[in-house]
Amino acid sequence: MTEESAHDGKSADGGDGADAAGVVRRDRFSGGPARSFLSSLEADERIFAADLEVDRAHVVMLVECGIVEADVAGEILTALDAVEVDGHDALPDGEDVHEAIETAVIDRVGEEGGKMHTARSRNDEVAACIRYRLREDVLAAIETTLALRESLLEVADAHRETIMPGYTHLQPAQPTTVAHWALSYEGAIRRDTARLLEAYGRINESPLGGAAFAGTPFEIDRERTAELLGFDGSPANDARGSSAEQRSAVVVENSMDASSSRDFLLETVQALSTHATTLSGLAEDVIVFANRGVVSLSDDYSSTSSIMPQKKNPDTLELVRAVAGDAAGSVQGLTTTLKGLPRAYNRDLQRATTHAWETVDAVTEASEVAAGAVATADWNEETLAVEAGEGFSTATGVADLLAMAGLPFRTAHEVVANAAENGSDYDAIEAAAQEVLGDSLETFVDPDEVAAALDPATSVASRDSRGGPAPESVADQLEVGRAACEADRETHAELATALEDAQAALREEVNGYV
Ligand code: ARG
Repeated sequence: MTEESAHDGKSADGGDGADAAGVVRRDRFSGGPARSFLSSLEADERIFAADLEVDRAHVVMLVECGIVEADVAGEILTALDAVEVDGHDALPDGEDVHEAIETAVIDRVGEEGGKMHTARSRNDEVAACIRYRLREDVLAAIETTLALRESLLEVADAHRETIMPGYTHLQPAQPTTVAHWALSYEGAIRRDTARLLEAYGRINESPLGGAAFAGTPFEIDRERTAELLGFDGSPANDARGSSAEQRSAVVVENSMDASSSRDFLLETVQALSTHATTLSGLAEDVIVFANRGVVSLSDDYSSTSSIMPQKKNPDTLELVRAVAGDAAGSVQGLTTTLKGLPRAYNRDLQRATTHAWETVDAVTEASEVAAGAVATADWNEETLAVEAGEGFSTATGVADLLAMAGLPFRTAHEVVANAAENGSDYDAIEAAAQEVLGDSLETFVDPDEVAAALDPATSVASRDSRGGPAPESVADQLEVGRAACEADRETHAELATALEDAQAALREEVNGYV
C-alpha cells in the first residue's frame, strides 16, 4: 500500500491486508487538517526500538496464554524483525509509531497480523514503551553522574593540600582546599545519583496489560510480559530485600493507574533538574575561579571571541549553567500538563513525554561536559595560595584560638573584628586585645600560635573536624566518596546487565517462533 492511500481516505474498510492503514485507523479518522498536529510519529522515533520489543513480548505472552496461534505469532514476529531492519523512516504513515508498526505488520502478514493488538491498547503500550526507553536513558544519565564524581574525586586526591580561598556571599571567608571544594560537589552529586536510581526503580515497572485503562477479558499474563521486558522494579526492588536472583517481575497493579499515570516522568525530570541545578553551581564556581585566574580550563572546554583574539572563555560551563534553566522549565511544563488531568488516558500525555526526552538528553550532556571540564582544568596553586590569605580570611581561626584559650567566643570575635578594622597582622590584633580586653594578647595565647593561625595552610590544617578541610579529614571523605561511587557503579552495572539479559532472553523466546 502506498503512503498516500494510508491517509487519503479512499481505502476500503476492513478485511483487506493490502489496506492495512485503513484497517487500523478506519477511514473516518485517516485524514483531515489536524493530522500532523495529532501525530507523534516523528518524535516517536525515540521509542521505535522499544515498541518493537514491547510488541514482541506481548505476542510471546499471547501465544503462551493460548490467545494467538503459534504460526500467526511466528508470522507477526517475523514481520516485526523486518520492520526493525527497514527502520523507523520506512514506516507507513500513522498517527504514531504504534499504529504505524501495526500497519506495517498487517501489510506484511495480512489480516491475521491484526491479532497483535489483542488484549491491549495504545495506552498501556505507549506507557510501556516510554518506560522501556527511559530506563536506558536514565542509566546513561546515572553513568555521567558517576564519571563526574570520579573526576571530582581525582581532583580532590591531587589537591588535598592545595590551599584556596573559601567564600560566603562571594566574599573571602576562610581558607580551604581544592580537595574540600571538589568533595563538596561529589557529595551533592552522590545524592543526585541516588535520586535518579530511585526514580529508575519506579520507571522499572510494567504497565502492559492495563489495556485502554479498564483491563481485558482475555486471560493474559501481565507478569510474563513484565518479565520478558525486564521490568523488575530494581533497584527499588532490591531495597525491598530481594537479591538479584530473586528479582521478579513488577507490574503497575491497577490498570487505570498503569495506563494513565506519568508521575514516573515527573519524578525523573525532577531528579534530572535537581542534578542540573547542582551542575549549574559547579559551573558557576569554575567560571568565577577562571575569572580570578586561579583555574584555567583546557582549550577543549573553552571558546574564543570572534573579534577579541586574546579571549579564552568558559562557554561550555556557561551552557552547563543554562541547562538548569531548561530542566527547571521542563519540570514546570510537565507539572502543568499533568496537573488536573482526569483519569484515565488523555492525549495531553503525548506532549508530556517530550519533556522527558529533552531533559534527559540535555542534562546527561551537561553532566558529561562538566566532568570533562573539571578533569582537565589546571589549578594555579601559587595564585590560589596568595588569594587564600586575602581579606583577613584567617580571622575566624584567630578568634577560635582565643576562644580555645578560654575567652567566650563572642568576646574573641569582638577582638578580631576590632583588629580587622585596622589590619590583619599580629600588631593589629595586639592593639585590639589592649583595647577590648585591656591586656596584652600574650596573657591569653602564645604569640607563635597566633602567627600560625594567621597562616592559611596552618589555618586549614587546624580545622580537622569531621568533614572539614584539614588533609586528614579530607582523606576520610575521599574514602567515603570512593566507596559510595564504587557501590553505585556496581548497582549501575547490575541494572545495565539486567536490561541486556532481558533483551537476550526475549530474543531467544522470539527465535522459538520465527
Ligand atoms: N501517541 C500516543 C501518546 O503518546 C499514544 C497513545 C494514543 N492513545 C489514544 N487513545 N489516542 O500518548
